[in-house]
This record gives sequence, C-alpha cells and structure tokens, in this order.
Amino acid sequence: MTTKIAVFASGSGSNFQALAESIANGKLNAEIGLVVTDKPGAYVVKRAQSLNIPVAELAPKSFEDKAAYEAKIVELLKEKEIEWVILAGYMRLIGETLLTAYENRIINIHPSLLPSFPGKDAIGQAMEHGVKITGVTVHYVDAGMDTGKIIAQGAVDVVEGDREATENRIHKLEHKLYSKTLQQLFKS
Ligand code: GAR
Repeated sequence: MTTKIAVFASGSGSNFQALAESIANGKLNAEIGLVVTDKPGAYVVKRAQSLNIPVAELAPKSFEDKAAYEAKIVELLKEKEIEWVILAGYMRLIGETLLTAYENRIINIHPSLLPSFPGKDAIGQAMEHGVKITGVTVHYVDAGMDTGKIIAQGAVDVVEGDREATENRIHKLEHKLYSKTLQQLFKS
C-alpha cells in the first residue's frame, strides 16, 4: 500500500526534493499529496510546482490564531486523505490542533544528535560548542521543541571552522536517512 504523505517546509526544500526523488526511484513507497509552507514564496514552492505536486502557501499571520491556521491545514490534509505529516525544515512548533488530528503521525528531521542542540540553527550551535561529531535525528513530533521520541540517528564529523562543509555533510546524510527511516516506518 502506498502511504499518502504531506511534506511541510519553510525554506529551500532540499529534503522535500530528496523524498520526491526516493519515491520516483521506488525506494520510498509513498505519495506526496500536498506540500504545506508557512512561508509563501519559499523556494520549496518552486520545487513542488516543477514536480506537479500541489502546494498550500499559508501565512500564519493571516489567520486569527494558531488554532485557526492549523485547522485550515487539517482541512486541506483531510481533503487529500493524507495519512502522515512529514516535517522537512518546517520552522514552526506544531500546535494542539495538528497534534490531535495526526496523533503519532507527525515526523520531523533535525540537524543534530538530539537531545543536543534543539531549536534553531542546530548546526551553528554545534559548531559554536566545538563538538567534533554532530549528526541528524529523525523523531516523532510532540508539543515540545524537538523533544519527541527518537526513531533514527546518524553521525557526521564536524569540519572544524568550515560551516558550509559541515552543513553539506549533514544535508547529504539527511537526504538518505529520511527516506530510509520513513520507508521502515510505513512498512511496520
Ligand atoms: C534541514 O537541515 C532540517 O534538518 C532543518 O532545516 C533544514 C531544511 O533544509 N530543520 C530544522 O532545523 C528543524 N528544527 P531544506 O529546506 O533544504 O530541506
């Protein structure tokens, strides 16, 4: 059975692209039914459009509150019969409305070995701390900031003094680890 997913992203969308490629290559048995972004005009929109994947561009500010914003998203997800919500660089805490509608069905990828360096700029935080090894975590989403149950992790050697090189290593690992982990999760 093909699993119907929505990918949430706020920025470039390289993880979205990698998931779409894994699906096209038959490595991930899923279908991306919708891309949701909280940043209208983000580069992920272009990527989705060029793959003919529907996109919802929703600015949270144009809703009365977070619950109303998320209620609109839930409505769109239900319309498309989305089973799992996959966060890929979605830089916003998930609220009660989405958590209730998709209980234990929201997954995130984070660019550090959690519980180290949650929140924004995890790579910058790791380099600032001078750690020698950092990595990537795939985890369930709960109400906290990157605090949900860990599903998979991978380690990356920091390239000392070179953020760009470290970031490239992390992205490379993310792009492999996310689809592999999701494939295992959807199978089980
Ligand atoms: C990724 O590195 C992802 O792990 C991170 O944002 C980047 C998005 O890149 N997410 C977080 O920091 C979530 N706390 P992308 O837009 O190219 O996929």
